[in-house]
Amino acid sequence: IRVFVPRDTTALSLGADAVANRLAREAATRGHSITLVRNGSRGLAWLEPLVEVETPIGRFAYGPVSPNDVTALLDSGLLEGNISHPLALGPTEEIAYLARQQRLTFARIGITDPLSIEDYRAHTGFYGLEAALQREPQDIVEEVKASGLRGRGGAAFPTGIKWQTVLDTPADQKYIVCNADEGDSGTFADRLVMECDPYMLIEGMTIAGLAVKATQGYIYLRSEYPLAKEILDEAIARAEQAGYLGDNLCGSGRAFHLEVRLGAGAYICGEETSLLESLEGKRGLVRFKPPLPAIEGLFGRPTVVNNVLSLAAVPFILAEGAEAYATHGMGRSRGTLALQLAGNVKRGGLVELAFGATLRTLMEEFGGGTLSGKPLRAVQVGGPLGAYLPESQWDLPLDYEAFAAESAVLGHGGVVMFDESVDMAEQARFSMEFCKVESCGKCTPCRIGSTRGVEVIDRIRANQNREANLALLHDLCETMVDGSLCAMGGMAPFPVQSALAHFPDDFQRAANGDR
Ligand code: NAI
Ligand code: SF4
Repeated sequence: IRVFVPRDTTALSLGADAVANRLAREAATRGHSITLVRNGSRGLAWLEPLVEVETPIGRFAYGPVSPNDVTALLDSGLLEGNISHPLALGPTEEIAYLARQQRLTFARIGITDPLSIEDYRAHTGFYGLEAALQREPQDIVEEVKASGLRGRGGAAFPTGIKWQTVLDTPADQKYIVCNADEGDSGTFADRLVMECDPYMLIEGMTIAGLAVKATQGYIYLRSEYPLAKEILDEAIARAEQAGYLGDNLCGSGRAFHLEVRLGAGAYICGEETSLLESLEGKRGLVRFKPPLPAIEGLFGRPTVVNNVLSLAAVPFILAEGAEAYATHGMGRSRGTLALQLAGNVKRGGLVELAFGATLRTLMEEFGGGTLSGKPLRAVQVGGPLGAYLPESQWDLPLDYEAFAAESAVLGHGGVVMFDESVDMAEQARFSMEFCKVESCGKCTPCRIGSTRGVEVIDRIRANQNREANLALLHDLCETMVDGSLCAMGGMAPFPVQSALAHFPDDFQRAANGDR
């Protein structure tokens, strides 16, 4: 009998190893022969560690399981597919949270053993690469263009057009760089890809290499993800051995090499040009654009810089065809978005949905409301630089253009929920302080503006010269938005401006003597 206990960071932090050890020991004592598979998470974080047992009619799920539950679970017939235990969740695929998603990119996570190439292949792995090897670079680029895929790191630039620029730029060497510096608050989708389905990223990068004629790739990984590093290194080694990386891809004579490089903890190194500086061994300072990295990127060569999720979407597009991807979504937002539910939420986790669903559906039907049980008050979408949305905006469809029309961003799909106890003036202060700490220091509006921003908000909160300081804060925000060199200083005012616009009372509290 195959029993699955995840080994990704989320499950491990919740005690998955202890559960796996206890299961193996007790099953052996009882004379049961089990095969323990250390899969990745299904992305249902609130149910981790989620234990699954293979039965003739599919997998049955139990969770969240603690080591102390193991004896009772075995007593009640865990290995016979018994579903009467209080932790029993029924057939995994029928768990509503999972069944209601449209998983294209995350179709395999939790199902396969992340490091097994056989398992990956058995679940359509490398089909996209094999298809790409039969096609001309321009054809591959056309397929990606037709899919409508846009950059999932946040900027939503059409991936196919970026690839076209790199393909069209002649050079002796080109590079594929994967931005895996997932730094946004509440986000973990990149990590899930890398820990739970690493070959998908390897395959996506290799296809990108074939499309633009690049033979070397780098995954720029945040150092806070040590397990992802371990899994990626091992997956790269195995892919090389199996001929899916290296000098002779699948016997085609074409080459692609891949290495992982670790960042050193700076948020700004998620910005593509400072990432490239860091990859070159320099301090993570933002570069001026132009030149675009697509023309002069890593070591001055044409470089594709794509987020993990953009590259991870590519194998599906090549294997199933652009149309299969593009049929999902709305308007110019095609395909699916990996939303990551976090903060004060009852059921946090990964929700992959076609563009067009609403935030309310996401937070209420998937998230189940707040963990505290108190009314939901605000939600920040798109990381620490994203706007705070009040209830009047929760029916907005998840679509790049619809969000932009409300001065909000979808960003990398992070959704952080706050209940009524949140102090939005404090949150506004936090975003300025975050910018102050993380600014690379290259331009004045960001470097100095964020420091002054913290001070001005402090004065407003202390009720000093309120009206003048509020006017100054509005002014300062505008200057940062208009005058900053990159999105760090250019977007840090978004949370502040949205807090001021939608939650003005929180800036008034001190004046009312509430604090
Ligand atoms: P951008 O709009 O300047 O560029 C988007 C991408 O398109 C870049 O890779 C750029 O090099 C490329 N590009 C533009 N024109 C091109 C052309 N003609 N040919 C080829 N490539 C072209 O945006 P930027 O500054 O790269 O990113 C800002 C976004 O990053 C924000 O919208 C924000 O949502 C997101 N962000 C994401 C974070 C994360 O942790 N994932 C953190 C902070 C911000
Ligand atoms: Fe550096 Fe901030 Fe200017 Fe970006 S906006 S270049 S992070 S100082």
